[in-house]
Amino acid sequence: DFPKSVCIYEVGARDGLQNETCLPSQSKINFINLLSQSGLSHIEAGAFVSAKRVPQMADSLNVMRAIKRQDNITYSALTPNIQGFEMALSARADEVAIFASASEGFSQHNINCSISESLKRFEPVMALAQLHGIPVRGYLSCVIDCPYDGPTPANQVLQITEQLIGMGCYEVSLGDTIGTGTPFKVANLLDTINSQIPSRKIAVHFHNTWGQALPNIYQALSMGIDTIDASVAGLGGCPYAPGASGNVATEDVVYLCHQLGIETGLNLDVLAAAGWMICQQLNISPRSNVSIAMKAR
Ligand code: HMG
Ligand code: MG
Repeated sequence: DFPKSVCIYEVGARDGLQNETCLPSQSKINFINLLSQSGLSHIEAGAFVSAKRVPQMADSLNVMRAIKRQDNITYSALTPNIQGFEMALSARADEVAIFASASEGFSQHNINCSISESLKRFEPVMALAQLHGIPVRGYLSCVIDCPYDGPTPANQVLQITEQLIGMGCYEVSLGDTIGTGTPFKVANLLDTINSQIPSRKIAVHFHNTWGQALPNIYQALSMGIDTIDASVAGLGGCPYAPGASGNVATEDVVYLCHQLGIETGLNLDVLAAAGWMICQQLNISPRSNVSIAMKAR
């Protein structure tokens, strides 16, 4: 059954901007401040990762310190290790995210260690987060296919998702990192996941590389998933997933949900305005059909 309402987890300021040209901090701050006016409850605002690896996120501390916060919004950041978590603390992140891969190849390329080493590395992050009362989200990449290892077995995804939840993640976001998923593949995966894990602990994170993100989201919604990651203007990608393009555009997801009678609590005009604003800074056009259609109307 379809959910009555969904939570849109906005990742544009992190997943979106990590794979575009570097912007001045002030542009990011203005972008996040505008997103904060749209009704969003969750905004991923940065990543505390190696600046050599992902220079686009190197100013996350300054950005998170300078944004104008709304009380009812959770501002989060990626924290791959203790060093990142400590920075997130000083940035006053409301929530942090650890990120693992369901495939060994991507784990090595993205975070420079095996899956089991990464889970070990996250243990002290989980302990510190618990000490500080900070909720931790888990990301799991390559849940359909890996750019290095090929198709990922659904059971492998289930097993690591269970481990992340067992470690204390309140939710795991399943990432189709290279966007090769299609509705049947997604249904197969979610059948396996839903058989063991309550759907409220699962989010989906689709990249739109092959143009299948929206049908995949429709499939996930029909199976009771009610947290959807999205990126305004369809920005982004992952630097360690060759050819991967942006996340599904938030505007497109919101239009779909509203047309299905599913509440989002979001103002589409403000989201679209935020998308046009950041795209102007990046000197690109929004990769959102809905946003472009709205402008032409
Ligand atoms: P490492 O490569 O194993 O090496 O790091 P290290 O621990 O020896 O550190 C190397 C350098 O990074 C050192 O600096 C550290 O100080 C620094 P140097 O001595 O060379 O000057 N460093 C850090 N700097 C800032 N913050 C930190 C930090 N940790 C170390 N927290 C590490 C491991 C994971 C840090 C590194 O490999 C890395 O940063 N990788 C980049 C990962 C990344 O950001 N990927 C993109 C986000 S994940 C994604 O997009 C997927 C997702 O969207 C879901 C999906 O779509 O599938 C979530
Ligand atoms: Mg991603």
